[in-house]
Amino acid sequence: MNPPSASSTDVLLIGSGAAGLSCALRLAQAGIAVTLVSKGALSSGSTLWAQGGISAVLDAGDSVESHVHDTLVAGAGLCDERAVRHAVERGPDCVRWLIGQGVEFTRDEDDPVGNGLHLTREGGHSHRRVVHAADATGRAVETTLSGLAATHPRIRVLEDRLAVDLIVDRAANRVVGAYLLDVHHGGVQALAARAVVLATGGANQVYLYSSNPHGASGDGIAMAWRAGCRIANMEFMQFHPTCLYHPEARNFLISEALRGEGAVLRLPDGDGRPGERFMPRFDERGELAPRDVVARAIDYEMKRLGLKHVLLDITHKPAEFIRSHFPSIHARCLELGIDITREPIPVVPSAHFTCGGVLTDLAARTDVDGLYAIGEVACTGLHGANRLASNSLLECLVFAEAAANDLIETLPGRPPPGPLAAWDESRVRDSDEDVVVAHNWLELRTFMWDYVGIVRTTKRLERALHRIELLKQEIQDYYGNYRISADLIELRNLVTVADLIVRSAMSRRESRGLHYTLDYPNLLPEARPTVLPGRG
Ligand code: FAD
Ligand code: SIN
Repeated sequence: MNPPSASSTDVLLIGSGAAGLSCALRLAQAGIAVTLVSKGALSSGSTLWAQGGISAVLDAGDSVESHVHDTLVAGAGLCDERAVRHAVERGPDCVRWLIGQGVEFTRDEDDPVGNGLHLTREGGHSHRRVVHAADATGRAVETTLSGLAATHPRIRVLEDRLAVDLIVDRAANRVVGAYLLDVHHGGVQALAARAVVLATGGANQVYLYSSNPHGASGDGIAMAWRAGCRIANMEFMQFHPTCLYHPEARNFLISEALRGEGAVLRLPDGDGRPGERFMPRFDERGELAPRDVVARAIDYEMKRLGLKHVLLDITHKPAEFIRSHFPSIHARCLELGIDITREPIPVVPSAHFTCGGVLTDLAARTDVDGLYAIGEVACTGLHGANRLASNSLLECLVFAEAAANDLIETLPGRPPPGPLAAWDESRVRDSDEDVVVAHNWLELRTFMWDYVGIVRTTKRLERALHRIELLKQEIQDYYGNYRISADLIELRNLVTVADLIVRSAMSRRESRGLHYTLDYPNLLPEARPTVLPGRG
């Protein structure tokens, strides 16, 4: 294979979270030259912030069947069982691969369960099966893998390069490269590639409140849709029940692992002190019911009582246990004046995970030849209508391996990268009204939160769609006339994703998993995915 040149590469990997990094390393370790781009610093995606861990069957008392069963139950009839089995069966080897790369997980040598690894528990899992690095698992994975990628001779890393669009040979339905914007200096480069892997993460910034970093703007989903790929199940946006409610830390997550280790949810009493434990009123599994159930219960109680937040209480556990199991959460809350060993944590639900995305097969291939999608950007069939906790990092690792294996086999037969049309800036000028972009970001995220959130109605969805149509026109106008910026491209993608979410939600005439509408509160007898054709 060829070493990458300035304008071409064998494999272009867009995104450097758990999915992109592990795919890049597997390819590079097999002798393939890759270019790895990130629109920010290498570690700027969601992976760095993952707390709870990675689910995998590692305990002798656990089983593949049990993990498959729990995943299917959470997915509310919409998982593709082949994808679930594939992920669950490959999970333990992927965890061992991470350990081989140097990721240090929390160990428990005295406990035979988990082969020396400490396994924690999260909602919807019937066993302890979540391998973790204290409460900062994503940081351990991201920093280890990005350190390896940054120094690997066959990986060319390009930071601060935002992929604007894929370049597709329409006649052959084949991806041939991508346009990359230099975020700091402007200018768009056309990079040719034999194959392109989208690993751009989710779209959760489409909501006003999100546990995700700023860059989770659904770029890969929007790019793939414009390239002609089918996009599936976008109505299933997962809201994490417990994000910290604090004006100085708007997207800090309080891991589900706290509830796994016994934390309970309470209503604040009249003086703001911990009052009734309310989850048993909603579900016999209490705080460990699947996320959609817990988030809806919190939303219901907050709306019923006019609360700004509810309380998560772990104070009944020994202080030393809390400090050693949750050192990052303990430290961050303490910085903000909350000692979680002595007082409950104010929490609210926030947008957390995109279950739908670019439709792929078991080898992570999309509808466009040579284009792969891995990690949160993809819809592999693993999550169905609701993702089971800690199945996301698992999906990143398993499908990154699948894409790498397919590329290792097929790349030699793919046409070499050819010359590409340059990006045309001849008819645009510098924007003199950046306020339009900032205003539209906020407007979009606000009405998505209000109208397309945890509880939906047809009327609210119609309202949202009407506003999306207006925004689409305004942004297209702006895009056609002004030089592009990262904010504009992200906004354009967010509006596309919002459109896909709302259209998917409107087409589902039932409540299933994460999609709950007051107009159709029941389940239909048959579970069907929502598949929207690409614009291509
Ligand atoms: P990301 O890690 O989000 O990386 C996306 C990458 O794509 C980034 O490098 C970004 O710069 C790049 N990118 C995006 N768009 C472009 C573009 N246009 N051009 C160039 N580059 C681009 N899951 C679990 O399984 N267990 C957990 O414990 C867990 N905890 C979580 C806690 C938090 C706070 C959050 C936010 C998520 C958590 N999740 C967890 C979910 C999980 O972390 C994510 O689903 C997963 O990390 C996504 O990885 P990824 O590789 O797909 O994308
Ligand atoms: C958490 O730690 O609660 C997040 C786990 C996940 O999103 O899978």
